[in-house]
Amino acid sequence: MFSTFSSEALRRMRDHYASDVEAEFARPQDPKHGDLTTTAALRLSKLLSRPPREIAEEIAAMLREMPEVEGADVAGAGYVNIRLKPDVLLAELDIVTDATKAKKPQKKDKPVIIEYSQPNIAKPLAIHHIIGTVLGQSMVNLYRHQGANVISWNYIGDWGTQFGKLAVAYEKWGGKKPVAGYTLDELLKLYVRFHEEVKTDESLDDQGREAFRKLEQGDKTLRAFWKDVVAVTKSSLEDIYLRLGVTFDLDLGESFYEDKMEPVLEEGKKKGVFTEGEGGSLIVAFPEEKNMSPYLVLKGDGATLYSTRDLAQMKYRIQTYDPKEVLIFTDIAQKLHFEQLVETCTMLGWKLPAFENVLFGRMRFVDKSMSTRKGNVLELEHVVDEAVHRAEEIVKERGDAIQTDDPKELAEMMGVGALVYGILSQNRKMDIVFDWDKMLSFEGNSAPYLQYTHARARSVLRKAENEEPSAPKTVPVFTEHDRILLTTLLQFPAAIESARSEHMPHKLATFLHQLAQDFNRFYNVEPILQADEPTRTLRLFLTFLTAQVLKTGAALLTMRVPDRM
Ligand code: ARG
Repeated sequence: MFSTFSSEALRRMRDHYASDVEAEFARPQDPKHGDLTTTAALRLSKLLSRPPREIAEEIAAMLREMPEVEGADVAGAGYVNIRLKPDVLLAELDIVTDATKAKKPQKKDKPVIIEYSQPNIAKPLAIHHIIGTVLGQSMVNLYRHQGANVISWNYIGDWGTQFGKLAVAYEKWGGKKPVAGYTLDELLKLYVRFHEEVKTDESLDDQGREAFRKLEQGDKTLRAFWKDVVAVTKSSLEDIYLRLGVTFDLDLGESFYEDKMEPVLEEGKKKGVFTEGEGGSLIVAFPEEKNMSPYLVLKGDGATLYSTRDLAQMKYRIQTYDPKEVLIFTDIAQKLHFEQLVETCTMLGWKLPAFENVLFGRMRFVDKSMSTRKGNVLELEHVVDEAVHRAEEIVKERGDAIQTDDPKELAEMMGVGALVYGILSQNRKMDIVFDWDKMLSFEGNSAPYLQYTHARARSVLRKAENEEPSAPKTVPVFTEHDRILLTTLLQFPAAIESARSEHMPHKLATFLHQLAQDFNRFYNVEPILQADEPTRTLRLFLTFLTAQVLKTGAALLTMRVPDRM
């Protein structure tokens, strides 16, 4: 933001004080104080051992000499607040227009692998899968928007003892219907029944393990069964992913690494990293100072584990893609697993790319009926349907207050958006609070509020019969609301970049919410269509940019916004 101005101002200060002071020009906490503020005087005061306010006065005088500056004042302990001239502010809006467009993809760059969602096939989707799915997709969108070469990856849990259990359940209670004709719900019912019956018949567990062992050894019938189950689950997920705007480049799941584990086990043994544990198992024992429990990589009966597959997976990704960065989204329960994994890779001497296990918190339900659902099983599809249903009711209730030619489509957009945004607008490092009323509210930091604001801006442009206005040719006088809306818009590129680089989508959400508030205040106070030129054109242009930024920002958060609402 204002990089030409900032570097010239800094250069003048350095010349004047013969010092190599570093200083930033940022937006003041309260935008009413100015377009920019700097702490340069505070820093120089330390370097030169002189009172900060005295230096601040000198700097303010120096800045007033610059052609871009309308005014500069000293505040507080020695801050300098700057007001820029309207033509400088207007010209800077180019960075906003640029940020609404995706940067050209750098195809030749090493890829960034982003792994997320990772549902477990034949097991119900747990609530953490919903969080990881939308967090991961928004991160993919953000990286792509900034031109990164991204591989979005669904590491499906399509291998493991749950298949043995399901096979036993199918044989006992499945009836005659071929698996391919099952719905996911029906498969889940079988799985749930297994867990009910095992309480009274413990032998079922052994039967399940035995069935999985046979599957691993290539039993034909079990293989065919497994394939059908995978197919049923995958196709039922397709629909829900589509509704959520989630897409993957690859969905190589755990089963893909079946034949890639043996070489890793050999390597680990040869390098002395895998040593014998209890009952003939293989473990990794970490140096004491790491303070980490041993990592089990092979069971005593020769069965591989989740950890074995993750080791094979890491090696495969490094060798096949030579990635610049690997991000794996999981909930905090997996923190230790990934710490052990990374440490093991290092002990094996593998050259790891930048790696982050991007962790997120647990879901906390405000609505009791959600948290007490049996076994905390939350089927994503049911939650999405409920969100849309609730949105439908709201659209009906609001009646004429809502304008739409397609109430069904609007409810879909609102419901899905409320859910996705409800998650993404929260700091992922904390518990995620799930609250229907808050998510679907028309006020506050919610999807409907942003969607409504977008539709409002679009409606102004429709009335002006100018849907893509450009900047005014002559520079108008700015009111405080014009200025604040404009300088808020200027924060958009930085909001995208910090959401991306810190892997914190809620930073973008917080910005969009601020923008919507500033726009609505501007809309309520300033005449737009009735204003005289060139103010009218300025305000239409600001309205247009607000709509574009809300739309682009929402899409990065996998959310759609309506033109009418
Ligand atoms: N499918 C696993 C689960 O549901 C998460 C997989 C995480 N990714 C990985 N590479 N281990 O808990």
